[in-house]
Order: sequence, then structure tokens, then C-alpha cells
Amino acid sequence: MPPKRTLILASNRLPLSLKKTSCGTYESSLSSGGLVTSLSGLTKTTTFSWFGWPGICVPDAEEQDLVRRSLGAHNAVPIFLDEELANEHYNNFSNSTLWPTLHYQPVPSFHTPAWTAYTRVNEIFADAIAAAAAPGTLIWVHDYHLMLLPGMLRERLRGRNCAIGFSLHTPFPAGDFWRNLPVQEELLRGVLGCDVLGFHTEEYRRNFLGCGEGVGAVVDEDGRVRYEGREVVAEKFIVGIDPQKFADELQRSEVRDRISQLREKYRGVKVIIGVDRLDHIKGLTGKLKGYDAFLDQYPELSERVVLIQVAVPSREDVKEYQDLETEVSTIAGKINGKHATADGCPLIYMHRSVCFSELTALYAIADVCLLSSTRDGMNLVSFEYVACQAERHGVLVLSEFAGAASYMKEGCLTFHPANISETVEALHEAVSMGDEERKTRYETLRRFVETNTSAKWGENFIDTLTQHLEG
Ligand code: UDP
Ligand code: G6P
Repeated sequence: MPPKRTLILASNRLPLSLKKTSCGTYESSLSSGGLVTSLSGLTKTTTFSWFGWPGICVPDAEEQDLVRRSLGAHNAVPIFLDEELANEHYNNFSNSTLWPTLHYQPVPSFHTPAWTAYTRVNEIFADAIAAAAAPGTLIWVHDYHLMLLPGMLRERLRGRNCAIGFSLHTPFPAGDFWRNLPVQEELLRGVLGCDVLGFHTEEYRRNFLGCGEGVGAVVDEDGRVRYEGREVVAEKFIVGIDPQKFADELQRSEVRDRISQLREKYRGVKVIIGVDRLDHIKGLTGKLKGYDAFLDQYPELSERVVLIQVAVPSREDVKEYQDLETEVSTIAGKINGKHATADGCPLIYMHRSVCFSELTALYAIADVCLLSSTRDGMNLVSFEYVACQAERHGVLVLSEFAGAASYMKEGCLTFHPANISETVEALHEAVSMGDEERKTRYETLRRFVETNTSAKWGENFIDTLTQHLEG
């Protein structure tokens, strides 16, 4: 039997986020987003402790203790940050500068205090993890909030025979764009401090390695990477979901009842579903404008289609996200103003989270899933839709800029999200597609989603990381 390894995960976001209630106590709710979905999918097969920021500031030491104990029951270890530090790290550097850069968004702002805070938060994580990591521990760091952490851990863990992995859950842009960021070299060096480096697609890997050469990483003909006298394994690891979780949910009587209710309500209507965090990269304004154009062009369909768009609130303290919310809700209002009749409206826009059972039911009744990201690391909503469509063989209409499109283009309809006429045509093709073609396409998608699960992603990454331990 191989020795049982201790695994530490580190991400900014824990699977549970805290909120303070009006009576002063703390309550936790499941965090949103693909990172939590993919890592939560590992829990069936792997045990780990998960270090991360609990989402709010808990200033009081006794309260911190309570929170620590309650999160500890879920193997989560909170990294407490004061409000100012968290604001600079999360809102100002990670989400206002780094996230836009990684997604080719327009000119990011750069402020030195935000960068200083980013560095400090990475140090706080490094100290906490170094204090917990016994020799032989595997440490798997996740995403753009913690790009300096691998390098910091390497220094702190010298001589301790631990292996350090890093997975990026976003795209990595081409060098010309990445170099706009004044601290790009520091970030590259931080990431290259790891032993194993994972990307969602080959393109992101290639882009990163092209930039890495600028700080001394050497890539040989076989794609092997050396940095500061060490080998860094840099590979594509295909992330996924736990499709069985959706299959099980679809069997629950409460969910079956909800599906029947929704089917009855939308009898004779083609349902198009969209589920996205309210984020610029999800291309929601383009999606709604494309849908508006579709209704203009095919007025005979306007009473026979409905787009149910769930826009999950996200990063609401960041001004760009607040402005986006106003813009999206204005466009949504205009679409219904223009196309609704006394018999109904073609758009249902929900600006809130939905619970898992409702989400599953919505995926299951939808004839089409429309995702129009301008850039997107992978996009797990596309996997989830497929996991819920075994009976209906719904059509996935997916932006060519979602990482998932590079794997699923044979089964889905891809389109350029900035090209409105392509969006319209893809939607029209999707709502008019015959049963035979839907089934054939669906089978391709199903095979991919069932083969590339989050458990498999985790096993592959952890196996590769384990090979970096001595003995
Ligand atoms: N999701 C969520 N809350 C909701 C609706 C959906 O947390 O109200 C989940 C969804 O099921 C999916 C994740 O958020 O697992 C979104 O992941 P994706 O990779 O598509 O995008 P991300 O939000 O990570 O950019
Ligand atoms: C994306 C990021 C994750 C992040 C998630 C939700 O998936 O890659 O790191 O956790 O969005 O965003 P939030 O800011 O709420 O953590």
C-alpha cells in the first residue's frame, strides 16, 4: 500500500462563505463559482484540509475561534484577514487588476497599495500553511488570488520534502497582453515556484510558458520546463464536475415534481437557460442583445421561446460589477418592454443565486443552454447542463471563448459572442434542431462530461504531484 499522503488545498474562496446576521452571529452558505464546484467534487474520493479566506472580516478572537471550530467540521481552515487588507487584496488587486488582465479585459488599473496587500495576503497564507505542513505533505494552491504563494512556500518549506502544485482556473492571456501588468514578472516567478502547474487548456499553458521564458523558464523540445535548476511539470489537466451528483438530484421526488411543474408551465415553449455569475467575462450584455436581435428577426417565435437567465451576484463591492448589474438589468427590462405581450414575456431575468434543486430542475427542462462568455477559464455550467440532459438531449450553444469549447465543439454549437448575427443563427439552429441531430450531438457531450470528472482531475493532479516527493 502506498503511504497515505496529507493534502492541503489553498484557495482564496472556501467552499463555505460567512455572513454576519442581523443578530450579530455568523452563518455560512455554499460559495458560488466553478472553483468550489470542481474542488468539492473531490470530496468523495480524497481527504484534505482546505485553507482559505472565509469571505468577511471576523475581528474578535473569540468569534474567530467559534468560526474556526465550525468550519473545521468541514475540513476548512479559515485565514482571517482584516477588512482593509482583504479589500485591497480581493477587490482591488485580484478582481480589478488581475482578473481583467487574465481575461483580456480593457486596461486594468494598477495601484501599489493593492499590490502590497496582495503580497501580504500571500505571505499570510504561506505562513499558515508552512506551520501546518509536515514532511511529505502535498500542497495544491488554486487560482489567481494566490499566484505568489508557490514561490513563498518553496522558501519556507526548504528541506521538508513537500510537493507544491498550482492550478489556474482562468485563462492565461497571450504575452503581449499579459505584459501590460507592471508586476507580471513577480507573478510568473511566484507561480514557477511550484513543482506541478495545471491549466485548463493547451492554449493557456502555451501562453504561460511563452511568458515564463521572460523570467528564465526554459522549455525544451518535448515541452519539459526547467526553472532555477528544477523541473516544473506544466500540463493541461481537464477539470470537470461530479455528474453523478446531478443524476442523483434528478431522482429526488421534490426535483421530479418541480420538473413536472415547470414542464407544464412551459408546454409548447422552447426554454433557453443561461446561468452565469454576473461578471463582464460572461458576456451577458452581448447575450441579451443577441437574444433581442433573435426576437426581432424571428417574431413568430417570440411567444414560443423563453430565455431564463440566472445572474448570480458576484463581487458586489467592485464598481465595475455594480455598473454591470445596472446595465444588464436595463437591457433585460428593455427586451421585455419591446417583446412582451399580455400573454407573457420572452425573458425571465433573475439576479440571485438559485438552490441546487432548482438549478438542476432548470437545467433539466431547458431545450437549449446559451453561454456567451467573452473569455472563460473552462465554464462548468456547460458540463452541468449536459449532466442534466440525458432524457431531453438539449442543445448547448457555447461561446468559442469558453475553455470548454475547445473540448466540446463537436457536440455543441459554438459562436463568436461579439458577432450578433452568429449568435442569432446559433440560437435559431438550436431551437429548430431535429431529434436525431440533438441525440448525436448530445452523446458526444455526455461522453466527455462523464469521462472528465472532477474526481479524475483531482486524481491526475495529485498523482503527478506525488511523483515530486522524494522516496
Ligand atoms: N452556481 C452557483 N450558484 C448559483 C448558480 C450556479 O454557485 O446560483 C454554480 C454553478 O452550478 C457552477 C458554478 O456556479 O458550478 C459556476 O462555474 P463556472 O465554471 O461556469 O463559472 P465561474 O463562476 O467559476 O466563473
Ligand atoms: C471564478 C474564479 C474562482 C472564484 C469564482 C467565484 O471561478 O476562478 O477563483 O472563486 O470565480 O468568484 P468569487 O470572487 O466569489 O470567489
